[in-house]
Amino acid sequence: MDPAVRFPSVAHLQEHAHKRIPHFAWEYLDSGEMAEAARNNNIDALQQITLTPRFMKGLIAPDVSTELFGHAYSAPIGIAPIGLTGLIWPGADHALARCGASANIPYVASTVSTGLAEEIGPVADGYGWFQLYPPRDTAQRDDLLQRVADAGFTTIVVTADVPAPSRRARQTRARIAIPPRITPKLIAQTLRRPAWALGTLRHGLPRFKTLGKYHDESSMRASAGFVGASLGGTLDWKYFQEVCEQWDGPVILKGVLHPDDAEMAIDHGGAGVVVSNHGGRQLDSAPAPITALPAIVARISGRGAVMFDSGIRSGLDVARAIALGADMTFSGRSFMLGLGAMGAAGPEHVAALLRRELVTVMHQLGCETLSELRELEVGRR
Ligand SMILES: Cc1cc2nc3c(=O)[nH]c(=O)nc-3n(C[C@H](O)[C@H](O)[C@H](O)COP(=O)(O)O)c2cc1C
Repeated sequence: MDPAVRFPSVAHLQEHAHKRIPHFAWEYLDSGEMAEAARNNNIDALQQITLTPRFMKGLIAPDVSTELFGHAYSAPIGIAPIGLTGLIWPGADHALARCGASANIPYVASTVSTGLAEEIGPVADGYGWFQLYPPRDTAQRDDLLQRVADAGFTTIVVTADVPAPSRRARQTRARIAIPPRITPKLIAQTLRRPAWALGTLRHGLPRFKTLGKYHDESSMRASAGFVGASLGGTLDWKYFQEVCEQWDGPVILKGVLHPDDAEMAIDHGGAGVVVSNHGGRQLDSAPAPITALPAIVARISGRGAVMFDSGIRSGLDVARAIALGADMTFSGRSFMLGLGAMGAAGPEHVAALLRRELVTVMHQLGCETLSELRELEVGRR
């Protein structure tokens, strides 16, 4: 059946993905931190935003293409960085990178994705950005940055909002572990998901391949220990500035919710920020990024790019963020739900779906360009 008919929305992909992803991986993808209020509120807060249409414009042809850091993109929609990608869907990293290149949208590879930067960068073909969880050892950091530059990644995204691991109860209950603990329960869960199980047989158990150079990658326990002990916990403005000085291209700070932090990021050499609460996975009391967005736009607009993620599930959500001043939006879970529902073809379906929805919404709003979206009257229900 035509995917546009079978999966006409991200909600339809979600329903089907849930039936194809094993329980432990689903809990990893879907959960938020603590009571999951931030995760749920991200979606509610977006739906509260109203956009008032303007009519009588005659025939219009909305153009959703955009330019960022001198690079043309087909839409203001990108693929957010996701860790442990291959656990959620086997072969995810290549499929996401291919989608970036074929849909002409930014694809951000996570430091803790399961693809090897040297392999994934060329697949993304100029559309790859690299998300950095800051290695404590600066020699490792410098080496990693050189490797991702050589692999063709254009932009670095430094994640600010993981000063410590978060507490996701559903993940704990589902016993997500690196290495996966092969228990009878886990085997039973995977046998009920044959497409995932066969894919994993083909692609192998997920590993932190890019980080493999810095520890004993043959032992997954060593891998997990390395990530816990060697990444994060060190991030401050000095570290961020060093990355900006070292990287020959744009560096972005992700996970910003306060205008002062956004301003500091630009003052220390950043090219922009991603207003995000990590999809509600880090701090359950964090505000919905869509409510934090306008003050950050007001503070740094004209000095740096303002990007947005957390809760985007439709082209209408993209329009809401753009109307509130975002230059680019990202989604994490939507693209992973596409993979879960459709396999390798899923991300491209999601990119096309969000783009088509955005075009439709712009027709309805009477906007031909993204700048016209920013002039609309925005309210709250
Ligand atoms: C399963 C999963 C893994 C994630 N891993 C990372 C990561 O490795 N690095 C990072 O900066 N953000 C990570 N994020 C956060 C996303 O980049 C993004 O901020 C979030 O998914 C946006 O919310 P949405 O899923 O509602 O679109 C992850 C999110 C999910 C759902």
